[in-house]
Amino acid sequence: MGRVALVTGGTRGIGEAISKALKAGGYDVAATYAGNDEKAKAFTEATGIKTYKWNVGDYDSSKNGIAQVEADMGPIDVVVANAGITRDAPFHKMTPEQWQEVIDTNLTGVFNTIHPVWPGMRERGFGRVIVISSINGQKGQFGQVNYAATKAGDLGIVRSLAQEGAAKGITANAICPGYIATEMVMAVPESVREKIIGMIPAGRLGEPDEIARCVSFLASDDSSFINGSVISANGAQFFA
Ligand code: CAA
Repeated sequence: MGRVALVTGGTRGIGEAISKALKAGGYDVAATYAGNDEKAKAFTEATGIKTYKWNVGDYDSSKNGIAQVEADMGPIDVVVANAGITRDAPFHKMTPEQWQEVIDTNLTGVFNTIHPVWPGMRERGFGRVIVISSINGQKGQFGQVNYAATKAGDLGIVRSLAQEGAAKGITANAICPGYIATEMVMAVPESVREKIIGMIPAGRLGEPDEIARCVSFLASDDSSFINGSVISANGAQFFA
């Protein structure tokens, strides 16, 4: 049996590419999603990857969902905390609800995803924790006080977990994608998106597969001494 990998938000966008890449690499993959049943069904039909529905922002849902994945597939060796949302607005227009929704999903959701699998990884002496952060957690972004705060916080999570897990055979790393061609980026008004693309030296958006390949590497045995690192994949838009 292959290693088991859990990918949150694993049926769409960057997460979809990650789920497929890990499956192609021989992992038994479980992909979670929050709401889009239709897309999840089509994803399973196309890929054969099993999906699970829960809200990563809710601890008990995450814990119970992860217990179900482990009952079905065995202990989780690789966890990819990818699920994330945007609620963009300039700060003077941002509502407490927009702040809280993004904190719940992108920051607390990462805690909720890793915390239930962490004791098992410690016991077995192996684990790979990969968090999908963002270029905007590194540099900030007009209209994203909430999102940038969570993505910067995600880096604090992996840098701390790396130190706690290192002696137990667990690595924790983050990837900071730049602007990638997904629904999330396509939701940015076109005029704003064009300006952003103009600021990317590569002259284009990234592809989800370009992030998935980073995940495959970090999940593999080849990355064993890389711990607490941040891989920027942004077409030279920003250097942390
Ligand atoms: N820098 C400086 N000024 C900016 C600006 C920017 N990047 N964007 C907008 N402004 C200015 C506008 O020109 C406008 O100026 P005036 O008041 O002089 O007219 C002012 O800010 C306010 O603009 P609006 O009233 O039109 O603001 P809005 O309420 O419509 O919201 C916004 C603006 C939601 C922030 C919109 O600009 C936006 O969506 N920006 C993109 C944010 C972004 O990059 N999100 C990333 C999504 S993808 C993602 O998150 C994935 C990932 O990890 C990379």
